[in-house]
Amino acid sequence: MAIRTRVTELLGVEHPIIQGGMAWTATWELVAAVSKAGGFGVIGAGHMPTDLLRDQIRAAKAATGKPFGVNLMLLTPHIDDIVDMVLAEGVHAVTTGAGNPGKYMEALKAKGIKVLPIAPSVALAKRLESIGADAIIGEGMEAGGHIGDLTTMVLTPQLVDAVDVPVIAAGGIADGRGIAAAFALGAEAVQVGTRFMCADECTIHPSVKQRLLKARDRDTVVTGYTTGHPVRVLKNKLSRQIEQLDRANLPDQIETLGAGKLAACMREGDVEYGSIMAGQCSAMVDRIMPASRIVAEMMAEAEAAMRALAGLVS
Ligand SMILES: Cc1cc2nc3c(=O)[nH]c(=O)nc-3n(C[C@H](O)[C@H](O)[C@H](O)COP(=O)(O)O)c2cc1C
Repeated sequence: MAIRTRVTELLGVEHPIIQGGMAWTATWELVAAVSKAGGFGVIGAGHMPTDLLRDQIRAAKAATGKPFGVNLMLLTPHIDDIVDMVLAEGVHAVTTGAGNPGKYMEALKAKGIKVLPIAPSVALAKRLESIGADAIIGEGMEAGGHIGDLTTMVLTPQLVDAVDVPVIAAGGIADGRGIAAAFALGAEAVQVGTRFMCADECTIHPSVKQRLLKARDRDTVVTGYTTGHPVRVLKNKLSRQIEQLDRANLPDQIETLGAGKLAACMREGDVEYGSIMAGQCSAMVDRIMPASRIVAEMMAEAEAAMRALAGLVS
């Protein structure tokens, strides 16, 4: 089955599944595997040095001729260098999280690079559309990592009503039922993060994958509200320390304590004192498998869910 939408056209992909650009997590191996499978892989740039990111882009290109993208961390101090390098190397699209992509929009679009910003609210989505966004990724608070405060269920239809560009639903989508639900809400693609952490090709430490497999429905928590940048993580010793600092209203201490903790978790496997960013759908991830099977399984489930729904209508 193929589901064709404005997003599959925009990105030149077979399936409306974007793999979320995850810092310290989504490296070229995963990105190439997702893109080869007909989805859209996205390298998580985080605060990566420019040279390293260039190597990642070149490795992904060498591994797949299919379209892929880069998630830009706009608040990183060397972002001007990063954008210059991305313009020179060329990728199909960039996704952007924190920060305003406005300054780079003209140059990116002049090179044919599509710009897909993430928006957790209607007001921001409208602003991003007005400055030239090609599509809006609406991310609900079920998602892993930095989040807003609306759920995917209520954010997606409001974004669909508010903007003319296509909307991509993110947050809490880990199987084909989630895809079908997102499409029912008007989305034209989904962005999936947590599920792809348990792809064979995802290079995070095996201890993190094992922790994800064991996760149950209420195992995530949102920490760091007092910093103004709340983060959804799996509960562990670090999250409990941060919760205490949140209660004591000590945001500066949270920033200090949190520094380097995502890398400590994803690269070194510190699942107790590292930051296990992951979404509420962690509990739905129960197997490690190749990215190609994740994509194929999710699409087959989406088809079954959509046909079952159509069958209810008389
Ligand atoms: C470990 C991890 C790291 C992430 N890092 C980033 C990031 O650097 N930039 C970004 O825009 N989103 C980031 N995200 C969000 C994902 O790209 C994606 O939108 C989200 O995971 C979707 O929700 P889900 O986890 O419920 O699938 C991250 C998510 C996770 C789980």
